[in-house]
Amino acid sequence: MNCVIIVVFVHFVSCDLIDHHWEDFKKKHGKDFISQTEELRRKSTFEKNKQLVLEHNDAAAEGIHSYNLTLNHLADVDKSRPHLARGLSGLLGSRHLPKELKHRLEAPEEEIPEELDWRERGFRTRSLDQADCGSCYAFTVAMALEAQVFKKNGTLYELSEQQLIDCSVLFGNLGCRGGSLRNTAKYLQRYHLLTRDKYPYKGKQSLCRLQALYNTEGVGVKTWGVLPYGDEVALKKAVATVGPLAVSVNANPDTFQLYHSGVYDDRSCDGSTLNHAMLLVGYTKHSWILQNWWTSTWGQGGFMHLKRGHNRCGVASYAVYLKIE
Ligand SMILES: *[C@@H]1O[C@H](CO)[C@@H](O)[C@H](O)[C@H]1NC(C)=O
Ligand SMILES: *[C@@H]1O[C@H](CO)[C@@H](O)[C@H](O)[C@H]1NC(C)=O
Repeated sequence: MNCVIIVVFVHFVSCDLIDHHWEDFKKKHGKDFISQTEELRRKSTFEKNKQLVLEHNDAAAEGIHSYNLTLNHLADVDKSRPHLARGLSGLLGSRHLPKELKHRLEAPEEEIPEELDWRERGFRTRSLDQADCGSCYAFTVAMALEAQVFKKNGTLYELSEQQLIDCSVLFGNLGCRGGSLRNTAKYLQRYHLLTRDKYPYKGKQSLCRLQALYNTEGVGVKTWGVLPYGDEVALKKAVATVGPLAVSVNANPDTFQLYHSGVYDDRSCDGSTLNHAMLLVGYTKHSWILQNWWTSTWGQGGFMHLKRGHNRCGVASYAVYLKIE
């Protein structure tokens, strides 16, 4: 008899715990749902991810994985629902055109440091949030240009992602439904990018405005190029000599969405899909350091360490450098 009572009690406690987790999660991340049905769907995603995080982190503690996961603010987001997935991606494919493979970035091997982090050189930027817009391409390219201004001038000059979302549609991009690095680079060869305060982020596509100011102020791209496919040595040289690079990655795995710390190395993260863009800001001996646009709650304050040497997540499959005027 005692035994039965204990079993019932334990069951009750564990259910209670799950609800607490969910309530705490909602409160912590200010979650508010349009309906109870929606909340139930979100909660079911959360429960599934909770299981994944627990199992993964247990295995990580045993040395099976080199990285930890966490129930971050995206833990209730089911990427198979297109309107929810938008805020986690937004990269359209770029074609590899031979004439754009301007990858001869001369630098003798000995000049390339073994480790490098542009953040330590002073390129420390604010935490960024693409929100519900598939604008990773705009964030990535705007930040690559900010890095060029920093490298040239030593100043942090905030450039407008929103302008790219609204205005690069002329070059084939689709606003909040995505864009390619190539289209965005081509747009910036024609038009200057204004500062963020002149053209602030809304996270929604609007009509392109400020036509009159084009090319009288802001920052323009002089040259840009695509690095050779899959070549991580070229990636290292380029980030050391040119500066932070716009890279394409596969952000599909659930482990990517829930990444917390350590060196991300999910073998299922190959380059077969490139649906997201990030800024490559440096490297250690074993990892690439990537900046993301999913707030500072994701990863290590908004950054990820990604295993080097296996073209993991396709990081070297379509990497772009941009140089300013
Ligand atoms: C470059 O630096 C100068 C002097 O600090 C500043 O006035 C100018 O606005 C900077 N330009 C950019 C693009 O940041
Ligand atoms: C994972 O989390 C555990 C517990 O917090 C910690 O001891 C460990 O260093 C973390 N591992 C990585 C790779 O971050």
